[in-house]
Amino acid sequence: MDILVTGGTGQVGLELRRHAWPEGARVHFPDRAELDLAQSKDIARIIASRSWSVVINTAAFTAVDKAETEVDAAFALNARAPAVLAIETAKAQIPLVHVSTDYVFSGSKPEPYVEDDAIGPLCVYGTSKEAGERGVRGANPRHAIVRTAWVVSEHRANFLKTMLRLSRERERLKVVVDQCGSPTSARDLAGGLARVALALAEDRSAPAGTFHLVNAGETSWHGFAVEIMRLAFKADGKRPIVDPIPTSAFPTPAKRPANSRLATAKIEKAYGIKLRPWPEAVAEIVAALES
Ligand SMILES: NC(=O)c1ccc[n+]([C@@H]2O[C@H](COP(=O)([O-])OP(=O)(O)OC[C@H]3O[C@@H](n4cnc5c(N)ncnc54)[C@H](OP(=O)(O)O)[C@@H]3O)[C@@H](O)[C@H]2O)c1
Repeated sequence: MDILVTGGTGQVGLELRRHAWPEGARVHFPDRAELDLAQSKDIARIIASRSWSVVINTAAFTAVDKAETEVDAAFALNARAPAVLAIETAKAQIPLVHVSTDYVFSGSKPEPYVEDDAIGPLCVYGTSKEAGERGVRGANPRHAIVRTAWVVSEHRANFLKTMLRLSRERERLKVVVDQCGSPTSARDLAGGLARVALALAEDRSAPAGTFHLVNAGETSWHGFAVEIMRLAFKADGKRPIVDPIPTSAFPTPAKRPANSRLATAKIEKAYGIKLRPWPEAVAEIVAALES
């Protein structure tokens, strides 16, 4: 079985590389030279190049604030590329697993978001990802759109790594307290994506549609930062103080949802996937980074 994964140098892509795939699964991670997702002809060529069993699209324009000014680039990667991937995979009659985001929602709902809640992105990144979801849904019925949130890992730049760096540079940190969500390990997410992709590849009746997948539990960015400090400075009394601040005190170019919580019951029912509590997953990442 040949599986194509885009974004193999990203947080989630790197975890799909080290995932324990079953014997017989050959997983391909084309580099940019082989597949530039901004080029539709590259997408058509790579899909037609082999008899793929399933495609997993983790690549995206993920610089949320930059997207506010680099609108065309964000839409090329987050909206057009998934749509073209969906058209080409549908032509080849293969399933497509596509990763999306909590930022398709406005964050005004008091409870966790379920899959069919009304969307209402607040920023260009969210709008472009929502357009990508529509492109996938509209072109390939054998799709799984997996929305996730607050992804962290040992790789690249992310909130957890930023906090660890700042903790070595400062004695006090200010972190936003009025946005809540579930920190999600790229490794745990990759495990879920692999499971969904293999099921869709092997079983034509495997459930298609939109799903939410995040680690269990919830917190604020402030709560997340406090936990990172606790883990990183376990034996050391000199851990930095983390002060809670409102979003209004930390203005950013892109507006973010106040509520990023995603309900995950649907993917648990459809695929039996439930990710462990976020503090456990985060402890694993901090331990790996500090070792
Ligand atoms: N990070 C989060 O907190 C978060 C939250 C919710 C949802 N998500 C979604 O989760 C998915 C994975 O995110 P991530 O954190 O793993 O992203 P990431 O670490 O920023 O990686 C993005 C990947 O996309 C690739 N890429 C960018 N432009 C490309 C192009 N023109 N052609 C081919 N590849 C290109 C990058 O390649 P290079 O290495 O060459 O740049 C990289 O491999 C995305 O769909 C994202 O929207 C992420």
